[in-house]
Amino acid sequence: MEQDDPAEALTELRERRPGPLELLQVAAGSGLAVYAMWALLLQPGFRRVPLRLQVPYVGASARQVEHVLSLLRGRPGKTVDLGSGDGRIVLAAHRCGLCPAVGYELNPWLVGLARLRAWRAGCAGSVRYHREDLWKVSLRDCYNVSVFLAPSVLPLLEDKLQAELPAGARVVSGRFPLPTWQPVAVVGEGLDRVWAYDIHRGGPAGQAVPGPGSASILGTPSSQSG
Ligand SMILES: C[S@@+](CC[C@H](N)C(=O)[O-])C[C@H]1O[C@@H](n2cnc3c(N)ncnc32)[C@H](O)[C@@H]1O
Repeated sequence: MEQDDPAEALTELRERRPGPLELLQVAAGSGLAVYAMWALLLQPGFRRVPLRLQVPYVGASARQVEHVLSLLRGRPGKTVDLGSGDGRIVLAAHRCGLCPAVGYELNPWLVGLARLRAWRAGCAGSVRYHREDLWKVSLRDCYNVSVFLAPSVLPLLEDKLQAELPAGARVVSGRFPLPTWQPVAVVGEGLDRVWAYDIHRGGPAGQAVPGPGSASILGTPSSQSG
């Protein structure tokens, strides 16, 4: 029967329960939309990266950024964020006086977004974002390194950091600690927690360092191998 009254038609539509086929269509449609989003926005750049080294984008929380800076503020030398996402850590590092501040990020959309944010903040000429694979970047001149990556890649990252970082460098790792290194300081709680590691001649070492009030400074020096 034809529905002439739009109000009646609407009521009928509201009361009608979707059948299994409709539910299946909705599920397939949503799945496709999520896949399209992933393929278009998140996947670019990762095609040549082995699956086990792919780390998805999750932005650091405001508190996490604060903790990273509390462990790096005042330090000289080049600061880098490995996997810089939308550039928030690099921008904040530059704003607190860390210079130069550089981000390396594989996803071209995120590199573009980071540059846009820097431009909007009036810092376009002062911070740098490179579309590069962090595993191929040389860290030999980096004294302040920020990472917020998946636990699965951290053992390999330890090897790279240990092989390349100069003595005097500091690494801060957000949310997940480096698996075998001894931190010199830990700041924050839960998801916002950040660990700091210092590189001494011959590799990373956990030594007491002066730090910000909120930091728990771990006082037991314990050298790592390497
Ligand atoms: C968890 S997010 C952290 C983003 C940012 N550092 C922050 O704290 O807001 C990890 C980032 O690393 C990037 N990434 C993953 N593997 C990479 C690689 N091999 N080279 C460069 N960037 C990578 C991802 O695209 C993602 O943006």
